[in-house]
Amino acid sequence: MNNNWFQTARLGMFIHWGHSSQQGWELSWPMVGGVFSLPFCQNILIEEYYSTADTFNPQQYNPQEWADLAKSLGVQYVILTTKHHDGFALFHTQQSDFSIANTPYQGDIVDEFVTAMRAQGLRIGLYFSLSDWHHPDYPAFTEADKPYRFDKLPQPTQQQWERYRQFMFNQVKELLTNYGQIDIIWFDGSWERTPEQWQAEELAKMIRELQPNILISDRLPNCGDFETPEQFIPHQPPAHPWETCLTINESWGYNSSDCNFKSSRQLIHTLCEVAGKSGNLLLNISPMGDGQIPPEQLERLEDIASWMSRHAESILGTTPGLEPWQFYGPSTRKGNRIYLHLLMKPYETISVRGLPIKQVQSVSLLADGTQLAYTSRCAIMDSILNPDPLGELTISVPKSAIDPYATVICIDIGSIN
Ligand code: GLC
Repeated sequence: MNNNWFQTARLGMFIHWGHSSQQGWELSWPMVGGVFSLPFCQNILIEEYYSTADTFNPQQYNPQEWADLAKSLGVQYVILTTKHHDGFALFHTQQSDFSIANTPYQGDIVDEFVTAMRAQGLRIGLYFSLSDWHHPDYPAFTEADKPYRFDKLPQPTQQQWERYRQFMFNQVKELLTNYGQIDIIWFDGSWERTPEQWQAEELAKMIRELQPNILISDRLPNCGDFETPEQFIPHQPPAHPWETCLTINESWGYNSSDCNFKSSRQLIHTLCEVAGKSGNLLLNISPMGDGQIPPEQLERLEDIASWMSRHAESILGTTPGLEPWQFYGPSTRKGNRIYLHLLMKPYETISVRGLPIKQVQSVSLLADGTQLAYTSRCAIMDSILNPDPLGELTISVPKSAIDPYATVICIDIGSIN
């Protein structure tokens, strides 16, 4: 497994999209009556929910535009919901009729997506829900099963399960055979069955035979290459490679009743925090039913792109910088350059501790290279007797240096022990 690229990718884009986006309904969850973690999720009769599958026709779907947008943000990889819990496939599948092939749109959305993203040099991830609330052998979720309970779900007979498992393996095989090199398979929904029922290890074996360089999300139990904290940043950086997936408002799919958007500044701060802890931010977007990105999301993405045009160097391809006691804020590094992310406005100076102060070559503003004045201090005897003492830097940060979203300061050091 080659996951080197993932370990310093830092920014990915998640795309939650499905037929229910036409009505501004969250993906899948409305049909089971909502879920506590999605406060704006609708509650829709199953039949009504599925009625939008027949009318899906995203005439404004332009994956090249999505790819350009992703590129402008500095995104390294993109992940699309090829099939969410509602079972509707955005790809052409031989395994069932329940897919985009049987809509007025007809085209293979996954194929068009992969082609456009690859043309921009982006790595490709496919989200796939193991659970399928539509498949008769899963078995399908019915009105009688409401309200949804994690510990009380409709269960299949043994024969049903064997048929479903085969169907699911076949769909995964299609995804990993028909679309060229796939960099990530992002499973979800595994909580509904046991690892034995999923035959997780056998599935992982098949996947790695089909795509030797692929990364598998940890939601395929015991087989994951990276952890997937959802909607939060772990307090301590996990030991394994990790990625936080995060929505811009509080919904995954386009949800017209959710106006609870995070600010551009909050999103940028989250990106800095995640990078400082060696993780990736998988930022979610929610295209509308016609394929356009909602304006509230575009506005924020443009702010992030503008900030990244000045600061991508301190995020992409970096490793974590200093220890938390050395600087009050997330920091990263690349070679001998340390990047300090100021997520609060300083009074007039900031302090950085435990640095080899005699080796500091320059302190500057990442955005435009402005040199910043600094002084240093260390223990008196150290300053006399130690040729390479550790000490503290006090850096002046004039008001003119403050970025409206997050200020980034670079410290160049001769060599770091
Ligand atoms: C949850 C939800 C799902 C969403 C996913 C993204 O597992 O069930 O709607 O796609 O998180 O991380």
